[in-house]
Amino acid sequence: MDVNKIRNDFPILKRTMSDCPLIYMDNGATTLKPQVVIDAVMNYYTYLGANAHRGDYEMSAQVDAAFEHARKIAAEFIHAPSAEQVAFTSGSTEGLNEIALMLIHQVLKDGDTILTDEAEHASSILPWMKAEKKLNLGYIPLDEEGKITLENFKKVLNPSVKVVCVAQVSNVLGFEAPIKEMAKLCHEQGTILIVDGAQSSPHLAIDVQDMDVDFFVLSGHKLCGPSGIGIFYGKKEWMDTLEPVFFGGESNARFYKDGTVSLKASPLKFESGTQPIEGAIGMGAAMEYLMGIGKEEIHAHEWQLKQRFLEGIKALDNVIVYNAHAENGICTFNVTDHGKLVPAQDVASYLNTKGIAVRSGQHCAKLLPDVIDAFGTVRASFYLYNTLEEVDTLVENLKTATLENCVNIFF
Ligand code: ALA
Repeated sequence: MDVNKIRNDFPILKRTMSDCPLIYMDNGATTLKPQVVIDAVMNYYTYLGANAHRGDYEMSAQVDAAFEHARKIAAEFIHAPSAEQVAFTSGSTEGLNEIALMLIHQVLKDGDTILTDEAEHASSILPWMKAEKKLNLGYIPLDEEGKITLENFKKVLNPSVKVVCVAQVSNVLGFEAPIKEMAKLCHEQGTILIVDGAQSSPHLAIDVQDMDVDFFVLSGHKLCGPSGIGIFYGKKEWMDTLEPVFFGGESNARFYKDGTVSLKASPLKFESGTQPIEGAIGMGAAMEYLMGIGKEEIHAHEWQLKQRFLEGIKALDNVIVYNAHAENGICTFNVTDHGKLVPAQDVASYLNTKGIAVRSGQHCAKLLPDVIDAFGTVRASFYLYNTLEEVDTLVENLKTATLENCVNIFF
């Protein structure tokens, strides 16, 4: 993978931050956009403009074709058996909420158990916690590093568990869950497996058929696409039988005063209202861009960056890393100064003065601090355009991230 060539695809990398060259390492939060994605969005607004599936004129037919092409690309990206099993959403959060609401109202009963874990993002926990039914919410015990292991999963999977909802890759620690093996165990007892692919899909080759998951969600903005767009995938039996959460234009073929509603087939029944058309087209362009480079190459590059980081901080005695063994480009750490913790947000603000963008805090996974015994952490999340030199600059600046230096930036 030629990282310099890739960097030329991202115009934003030419900007500065805090008068330094921009070093963007907050890819777990969102990713930068290559010119092909910007062009795809601009092209829609400049030349297409119409709604999708609404008009009977040439321009609207061109929009329909571009919008449905994006859906086909998304299906290819996750290796779905058909594009009809891919519905557009505003992102992973909406997808997870929609799936939870459909199952809560149409499939689950009072007393059913839902399993998740304490490393999860809020959107894999809260829709179940706030359910109108009396569900039991259980947590798969994490190992000492904060990982889901098959052994621990087996300990808590029992016949009362009707749904398991987990991330393929944790957004804080970056550990990958053994999804394929979990799916096999779930299906042996008729349990539904929902997978949050927000952090895995930008970096790993996704095959929903091979993993045999019931549902899978992802967000376009985390894989170089626009924000406000994502997808949920469901197995055919679910996409055919579930009724949507939202109703409005497009989802129905007819409705009558007596309350009869005749829904369209999947995926259109799940897409009430005008969709973010430019977002879908832009996400399609992003997926084609990433598939053109190859996920294996991207993952290998991120792994190399992480190794460089781990090597670099070996020489320091002030950095605690929480996920050295997670095999991807997420580095979650804290900095100490003579044994005292430098608050994560202060470290992030200090790094900002050097042009380095990282995230600090709890990263939307608010149950995890108790598990890893750290109220907040700093997260540097690498992606295909990051360089070894940028990692060296990060490490170099962590050396000087003392309590005094980090506090002084505020005065
Ligand atoms: N869920 C996103 C993150 O991990 C926003 O930063």
